[in-house]
Amino acid sequence: MSGESETPFEGVLRQIDDTVPFEPGYYNESYLDRRITARMRRRDTESHGEYERLLREDEEERQALMDALTINVTEFFRNPEMWEVLRDVLRERTSEQRRVRVWSAPSADGREPYSIAMLAHDDPEIDESRVEVLGSDISEEALENAREGVYHTTRTTDIAGELEPLSDPDRYVERDDDTFQVRPTVQRLVDFETHDLIRDGARDPFDVVLCRNLLIYIDVDHKGALFDTLEASLADDGVLVLGMTESVPPGRSDRYEPIDKRRRVFGRV
Ligand SMILES: C[S@@+](CC[C@H](N)C(=O)[O-])C[C@H]1O[C@@H](n2cnc3c(N)ncnc32)[C@H](O)[C@@H]1O
Repeated sequence: MSGESETPFEGVLRQIDDTVPFEPGYYNESYLDRRITARMRRRDTESHGEYERLLREDEEERQALMDALTINVTEFFRNPEMWEVLRDVLRERTSEQRRVRVWSAPSADGREPYSIAMLAHDDPEIDESRVEVLGSDISEEALENAREGVYHTTRTTDIAGELEPLSDPDRYVERDDDTFQVRPTVQRLVDFETHDLIRDGARDPFDVVLCRNLLIYIDVDHKGALFDTLEASLADDGVLVLGMTESVPPGRSDRYEPIDKRRRVFGRV
């Protein structure tokens, strides 16, 4: 992506690659284009060439672009209807008297893996002592937040609302006005680790792997590597959960059968 044939847009991508701790090659072009165009508008920049120069010279803009490119949106119990399917999976697996390992990859700021641990505690038919959760992400900053386990209600985030699927949220978070601290009983079930799903390869086999709301941003050339990681990390009778607008790539669909197609929960064949 250098030399005479480089387009101005590619020039911006190269500048990102060289100066921002972000891997533009992983993500699809339309996603990158949307975020870069939004920043260009904010800075009244007319052309990609002009924006490339701005990135080279302005540290603050590099930071602002990095923030805009990092897709870390998440929620506790995001898409509550999926969690009803997961509830049944956890009931069934823990009743088999064995350890049930769950991987939330990517975990962003921890709200997804903590939701799994909270659900395990909250449902009397799930034996939480058998559940172990790993949350991983490429972003160190997100993981720092995750380990801390502190979340805030803001103008755009309603933490109490997100926790509504629980019978008694106060058992799982300590609330001080708009600040919510996840309690140690929940934190004890969850570990966090840095992991790049495209580059770092498989992890121990897991009984359940959640990979939600990342595939939509990933370039088609890297989706295969990401799916290789997921597949090699799934136990033979494992369950895979994708985001509500994501699907198993066509060439691999014979390896999974839907447990609930609409909620994107699949069993490994
Ligand atoms: C939109 S969040 C999804 C979080 C959660 N799974 C959910 O659905 O709410 C996407 C996360 O993917 C992480 N991410 C981006 N590229 C990644 C990669 N190559 N490997 C692991 N995580 C990645 C980002 O840091 C971000 O936290």
